[in-house]
Amino acid sequence: MTHVFHRYPLNTLPTAAKGDGIEIVDGDGKRYIDASGGAAVSCLGHSHPAVIQAIKDQVDKIAFAHTSFFTNEPMEALADTLVAEAPGTLDQVYFVSGGSEAVEAALKMARQYFVEIGEPERRHVIARRQSYHGNTIGALSAGGNEWRRAQFAPLLVPSMHHIAPCYAYRDQTPDESEEAYGLRVADELEAMIQELGPRTVAAFIAEPVVGATLGAVPPVPGYLARIREICDRHGVLLIFDEVMCGMGRTGTLYACDVDGVAPDLLAIAKGLGAGYQPVGAVLVSAEIYRAICEGSGFFQHGHTYMGHPTACAAALAVQQTIRDDDLLTNVNTMGEHLSQALEERFGNHHHVGDIRGRGLFRAIELVADRTTKDPFDPARKLHARVKREAMARGLMCYPMGGTIDGARGDHVLLAPPFIVTKGDVDTIVDRLGDAVEAALSG
Ligand SMILES: Cc1ncc(COP(=O)(O)O)c(C=O)c1O
Repeated sequence: MTHVFHRYPLNTLPTAAKGDGIEIVDGDGKRYIDASGGAAVSCLGHSHPAVIQAIKDQVDKIAFAHTSFFTNEPMEALADTLVAEAPGTLDQVYFVSGGSEAVEAALKMARQYFVEIGEPERRHVIARRQSYHGNTIGALSAGGNEWRRAQFAPLLVPSMHHIAPCYAYRDQTPDESEEAYGLRVADELEAMIQELGPRTVAAFIAEPVVGATLGAVPPVPGYLARIREICDRHGVLLIFDEVMCGMGRTGTLYACDVDGVAPDLLAIAKGLGAGYQPVGAVLVSAEIYRAICEGSGFFQHGHTYMGHPTACAAALAVQQTIRDDDLLTNVNTMGEHLSQALEERFGNHHHVGDIRGRGLFRAIELVADRTTKDPFDPARKLHARVKREAMARGLMCYPMGGTIDGARGDHVLLAPPFIVTKGDVDTIVDRLGDAVEAALSG
């Protein structure tokens, strides 16, 4: 009898007893390849010596010191490291303990910025349907995942609004080019700003490459540039949520680098600390920072564990390892290999409608019929079957349902560690292929 209120109380889970490179070993000695990094977290695998040593060294010096009394060395060094390669004018870092906290901080920072500069009427935030920004009330309000929102709807923040995602596989019309499709959906932002009243909108928030809810969906060319243009025209702040897709996962340190579009606020977590410690951050533009410093002089927010020295020391070691070992090159080469291997295994599969993603962030979308793109009956819970069958075969992947509208659709997300080899990738795709077949025939 457990006294832990587990995430899924009715399921019996194996115990994660040990980490060994890209594998997790359970209490019975069974090995699982972590092909999803949990939920796109464990980008260095599970036993990286440099990160483990950095944590030990930091705890030997000092484990924690509250940030209202002290700064600390790893936090300062980590901020320098992140800013050195940050896009646009992002040059300050606000540290928190995870992705939801990063999104909450970004939303509140956007609001406070407008209060500081004398535009307190800016109170609306626009986000996209089929997005996920976290589970705290503010982040959940911004998110556009109907299934996650439904029962909490009465608690959600009414100043959040949603436009269409950029989801070409389902929404691009046959007579439309990718670019034309991207401009059409981006222009929904313009329409929503007009509807709410241009000087009442504070921010637009989006995942540059959509993660858990849609399954590794990159924007079409030109989409993010148009979004930036619309935000600039109306003085609306642009927030990128790179909690899942950032920190090298999609092939560049910041996911938005690929599209050449810089936000005003950028949320990161997951791959920042690679799971060795809970840590997240918001990168903040020079202008927002200046407005707060020259205004009230204080961002009215804060958490007990922000800038936690041990968490920052771990994240610093993770980021240094990624640079020292040139792991982004491996993300790109292994990402291409993974894409090809998925094409070979599933490219002609009657029940795989789309294979997509960037870098080591890839997904397949499962369909009842490849020609019509009809989804499977949600009652079949195909995504859950795939997860079960994969675990039985020693593979962790990240399947999810509700891909289309929160209820219909299934996809399987892969986000293996940046240290994977060709052989690892082939094994991952083999096991996934077998798991999908078993789930479909069950
Ligand atoms: C894009 C995105 N934003 C925010 C979050 C929330 O992060 P956390 O679970 O660390 O609070 C997630 C988590 O999956 C995410 O994928």
